Amino acid sequence: MEQQLVQSIEKVIQKHFSSEYAMHLNRPLIPESSEKKLLDSLHSKDLSSDGAYLTEIENKISTECGVRYVLGTITGTSALHLAMKALGIGPGDEVLTTPFSFIATANAIFHTGSDPVFLDLEEDHFTMSPEKVRQFLVENCSQNGHGKPVNKKTGKRIKAMLPVHVFGGACDLNGLIDIAREFNIHLIEDAAQAFGSTHNQKKLGSFGKAGIFSFNGNKIITSGQGGCIVTNDEALYHRAKLLANNARVDIGTRRAYFEAGFNYRMANLNAAVLSGELDWIEQKINTRKKYWKDLEKVIEGSGVELLRARPGCQTNYWQTVLRVRNKALMKSLKKEFELQGLHHSEAWPLISEQKPYKGFQTDGLAVAREIISQILFLPSSPDLSFKMLPYFRAELVQKGK
Ligand SMILES: Cc1ncc(COP(=O)(O)O)c(C=O)c1O
Repeated sequence: MEQQLVQSIEKVIQKHFSSEYAMHLNRPLIPESSEKKLLDSLHSKDLSSDGAYLTEIENKISTECGVRYVLGTITGTSALHLAMKALGIGPGDEVLTTPFSFIATANAIFHTGSDPVFLDLEEDHFTMSPEKVRQFLVENCSQNGHGKPVNKKTGKRIKAMLPVHVFGGACDLNGLIDIAREFNIHLIEDAAQAFGSTHNQKKLGSFGKAGIFSFNGNKIITSGQGGCIVTNDEALYHRAKLLANNARVDIGTRRAYFEAGFNYRMANLNAAVLSGELDWIEQKINTRKKYWKDLEKVIEGSGVELLRARPGCQTNYWQTVLRVRNKALMKSLKKEFELQGLHHSEAWPLISEQKPYKGFQTDGLAVAREIISQILFLPSSPDLSFKMLPYFRAELVQKGK
């Protein structure tokens, strides 16, 4: 039965992917407009962190996400780090987060000098559980004179919550926003993987005090390397912009530096690539959706599930994630994937169990521990439908994709 199932999955992959794209979990597909804009930015000589394309992508993202302020950064990691630094998060503080993410989420916290506290997940969506966050705040924290939670065990202030919209699917934003308000802590959304996803038709990333996206080459749209902060908070935006630019203050023709900043601004070259990409987000999401629909049909009733979007939310289908609850089925399925040479990968390990994060506080993470052994990643960037698009590279068509 597993053999047949894997053969059916393979057929779906063959239908939606060229052989090159089927050999990777994520592979960029760059429109011709990005190439033209990249050349144009080279000719403009505005290569670094000033230039028309940087302004253009910030304006486009602001419109796309319905937020007032967007700051392009060199990576999603730097966007996270910067957002927390701009909020004054540092030594003596703690940030509540998920153990189930790409490790950059925790690294960004770590490098502010604050400590991550890893809290457990929701069973169905693999995202931070509002129930577990509330339980931690109620049972483990007291309030300081400013009405902010203090961890009774460490004496450190809980300044923020950093949930991740994992694989492009939304966290329980209603629950997390309520907790952030009730306990007076910041909500920062790690939407690195979720550009284009929505909750009640509002774009992910736009709900918290700040949100961040990654435009790394493995994301749904890319600038090569890059990221951004999105926010409606004017003061936060200006503070982040100052820090991203080495905290440079221009006083007439003189420059002054009153604190140590970072060199975190996105380069115009990267923005040029992203500018072309941004025009294709809807088509990219739709292409992935068709692939998922076909996968759903062949796995129906097999004990293998696709991670589903939360009711009221729309995923961008960034990562194709199979969930297999039955251990024996998972074992034989993996064997069959290997036998048939179908590209796949296991889930990230829990961050809290990696060497740099082993000593940090958790709430036991019972659900997270269970979930990680139930996951398989499949190739996630279908490319075939793009051959229909005249704007894409002619070679793609020539290769017969
Ligand atoms: C959830 C999450 N957070 C943060 C990042 C960091 O983004 P970047 O690789 O652009 O630094 C990633 C990227 O891969 C990610 O998946």
